[in-house]
Amino acid sequence: MKVHVDQERCQGHTLCAMIAPKVFELDDIDGHSSPVSETVPVDQEDKVREAVESCPERAISIS
Ligand code: F3S
Repeated sequence: MKVHVDQERCQGHTLCAMIAPKVFELDDIDGHSSPVSETVPVDQEDKVREAVESCPERAISIS
């Protein structure tokens, strides 16, 4: 699984980083989220799916 965060959509709601802190890191300056790595570890895939559903801005996509 690969994950992408659309920086135009992300408004820094932080839910993704709370749900999957090993996958998403928040920028100290603008609070936007980005993946630590584009490829998601297998044991984090369920959490990433949950983060996709939880993001109010629909900023996270997976493939
Ligand atoms: Fe951004 Fe959505 Fe996470 S708005 S900080 S990608 S919950």
